[in-house]
Amino acid sequence: MWFQLFLLVSSAAFIYAADPNIYRNCSETELCSQLRELQRQNRYEVIIEGATFSKGVASFRVEGVDGSNLFLNITAIEGNIFRVQIEEAVSSRYHLENVLDGEPTIIDFDDVQLTLDSASIIVGNRRAYVTTSPLSVEFYTDEMLQLVIEGDRLTLDNNELSHPFTFGVNFPQAARLYGLHEHADNLALRTTAPGGDDPYRVRTMDLTNYELHSTMAMYGAIPALYGHGVNSTSGLFLHNAAELWVETSNNEAYFMADSGAFDLFVLLGPSIKEVVRQYASLTGVAHLPPIWTLGYHQCRWGYADQEDVQTVIADLDNYDFPVDVIWLDIQHTNNMKFFTWNPGNFSTPFEMLKNLSSTHRYLITLSDPHFKVEEGYFVYDEALARDFFIKNPNGTVFEDQCWPGTSAWMDYLNPEARDYYSSLYLYENWNGTTSTLGGIWNDMNEAAIFNEPNEKTFPYDIIHYGGVSNREIHNMYGYLQTMATHKGLVDRDNGTLRPFILTRAHFAGSQRYAAFWTGDNTAEWGFIPISYSMCLSANLLGISFCGADVGGFFGEPTEELLQRFYQAGAWLPFFREHSNIGSERREPYLYPDNVQQVIREAIKTRYAHLPVWYTLFYEHNRNADPVIRPLFYHYPEDADAFDVDDQLLVGSDILVKVVGEAGVESVQTYFPGGEDLLWFSAQLDGVVYQGTGFNEVPVTIDRIPVFYREGSIISTKQTPRPSTTDMKDDGYTLIAILDDVNLSASGTVYIDDNLSFDYQDSLKYNYISLTANATNVVVSYIDNSDSEGFELVIDEVITVSLVKSKSVSSGEYVKKVYSYTADGVQLSSIRFSGKESVTIKLE
Ligand code: NOJ
Repeated sequence: MWFQLFLLVSSAAFIYAADPNIYRNCSETELCSQLRELQRQNRYEVIIEGATFSKGVASFRVEGVDGSNLFLNITAIEGNIFRVQIEEAVSSRYHLENVLDGEPTIIDFDDVQLTLDSASIIVGNRRAYVTTSPLSVEFYTDEMLQLVIEGDRLTLDNNELSHPFTFGVNFPQAARLYGLHEHADNLALRTTAPGGDDPYRVRTMDLTNYELHSTMAMYGAIPALYGHGVNSTSGLFLHNAAELWVETSNNEAYFMADSGAFDLFVLLGPSIKEVVRQYASLTGVAHLPPIWTLGYHQCRWGYADQEDVQTVIADLDNYDFPVDVIWLDIQHTNNMKFFTWNPGNFSTPFEMLKNLSSTHRYLITLSDPHFKVEEGYFVYDEALARDFFIKNPNGTVFEDQCWPGTSAWMDYLNPEARDYYSSLYLYENWNGTTSTLGGIWNDMNEAAIFNEPNEKTFPYDIIHYGGVSNREIHNMYGYLQTMATHKGLVDRDNGTLRPFILTRAHFAGSQRYAAFWTGDNTAEWGFIPISYSMCLSANLLGISFCGADVGGFFGEPTEELLQRFYQAGAWLPFFREHSNIGSERREPYLYPDNVQQVIREAIKTRYAHLPVWYTLFYEHNRNADPVIRPLFYHYPEDADAFDVDDQLLVGSDILVKVVGEAGVESVQTYFPGGEDLLWFSAQLDGVVYQGTGFNEVPVTIDRIPVFYREGSIISTKQTPRPSTTDMKDDGYTLIAILDDVNLSASGTVYIDDNLSFDYQDSLKYNYISLTANATNVVVSYIDNSDSEGFELVIDEVITVSLVKSKSVSSGEYVKKVYSYTADGVQLSSIRFSGKESVTIKLE
């Protein structure tokens, strides 16, 4: 069995192209082939007479030319959002549950103005304008037209199996569209058209050997789309979990939905930052991750026994590679039965966890949604008895092939099945587990099925709880699993510890439960830059905690590729090396010294910036701002930055560019912000660029372009330690990049207990504002938190500035280091925990 598996995986490494015999394109899919070339035509008319306007909801009758009766509801939602619902007057469409983060708050209209063939619905500075024939709804902010729902591409259909519908959207202000995650494609969506590229397909699928620059469906499916231009941004979120195909251009999109309800949230921005926040107001934000999840993760499909776990950690320690987590893939189980341990190789899991814990490391194990069909396997027996498995249309349990052989899939749509599944994570139900098993990896949850003729995933017509066919909820199956896993992990520790879950399938709102990674990538150069554009796309759509398998899951990275993967991965929110069972082992200590040194440096750079990451995750939780951002997020008027997606901003202050090619000595790097904004090399070596666009930046094997923004304070911890836990009490080095006009800089830093929900439940944290100039640093609190025990200990302040001239060539680079420790001992570190500001004199 293992030998077969080995062949399967290792041969796959040489293919590196999704198999066209498995995955369908538009012309092979009924939905897309039939609807793609739909003629623009007036099929519906809005009837103004009799329309009602009550408590923020406008309701119109709509007549189809075929005599059908429908309704159009437009609801004003708090925060510059409208909700648009169009549906048959008598309808059996499925309406999603469990996705929105609470019911959106409806607000009343300020005014309604009617004519015979139009209606204007006014709320503050925004307006929805309905025209009757052709049916269209235009959305304005401050009388600027932001988004149009084009009724001449609207169709709603019903057949025995599904309820397909289509509609067109126009973003008049947009120069680019972003969203419709997940695709291995550029961040800005391409133009698709019949005869050209296929539309973007939005459907959770295990796309084995995924290709780059493709519109094919992948593991995640987020039906949100933003249109951005120099003047404004707007967006939409289709609250629907059925399969979609979306034809796109720079400012138009045509949606083909397989089923479910036309339930569209229109996000009127009018800035990218506000659109992101509006989307998050509907689908939620992530809670703070436990800090150890922001460290380095060592994973491999192949850590096959307890000794391996111990040896890998010991070797990482011996070779001075910081690490926080080691991962176990399917092999930890007894015969692929989740919630069991392999009795031979993992005979004393409790001991293994105890050993890990003594080194301040955590374990994460994989837990898939399928269950071995085997009488006597407690999960199978109980789920079968309680009717918790997904069914065939004829009412029998749906069984198919996955890792355990014949398997059945838990029906997470059923709330009782979810509760049961959650309970499996309790310590008493999963023998040998402790809180050192700090996280769970929900894989294969699109769901992936071996040999299934329907593109290796669920057939459309299998039946979930309540008689709901998979067609209606397919895209949220994995999401529902993570929801149950999350509850299980929260319950297991009585709500005290923050759980961590990594999921492969994801949907709108997944951020509330899980991080995700970009799945089975390949050890090829193109997979480095694509990891940035894929994670940036997710960050715009609410999910900040994203990473890619460092090194590439399939194939064998060259030493150079591996080093570049580490350097790029260290600046993505989730940082894990992973490789498949058929590839050679690639723990960093297995490489020659020079390679090790580069990897070590990349990992240590990550650890040094831990306070930056942690603060950004807090700010995401607080404001919904993404942790990593494309350049246009902060420079929305810079049209040249719209297509830059192999670079990212960590927060607003750190600019990183990947090196995604072999043997290069320099890379074109885009510096935004104009000539008045300077970007300082993070090496603090005097290299400074102005924000005037592309520059050729020299690179060496141990260096990729990383720059700090002028005017920012970067909080770091510079003492090298084996793990994040070991860094807890270390003091901070504040790096103030003084701007050249006022010689000032500012930043924030967030501190709490790193692990618990106390920051949420009892507001125990310290959220601090920092400002600096050439002579002092002022530390002050931002809100009324209970900060006792979470003091900011400052060991060192470094200021850098470029004075006298704005011209890089003639400016004088000045770097000063002010140390508050001596011989590594904190003699006089500055401590701040109270509410009174503290001023530190720089002298
Ligand atoms: C597929 C996942 O994408 C991969 O990361 C994992 O190693 C294998 N499943 C085996 O569990």
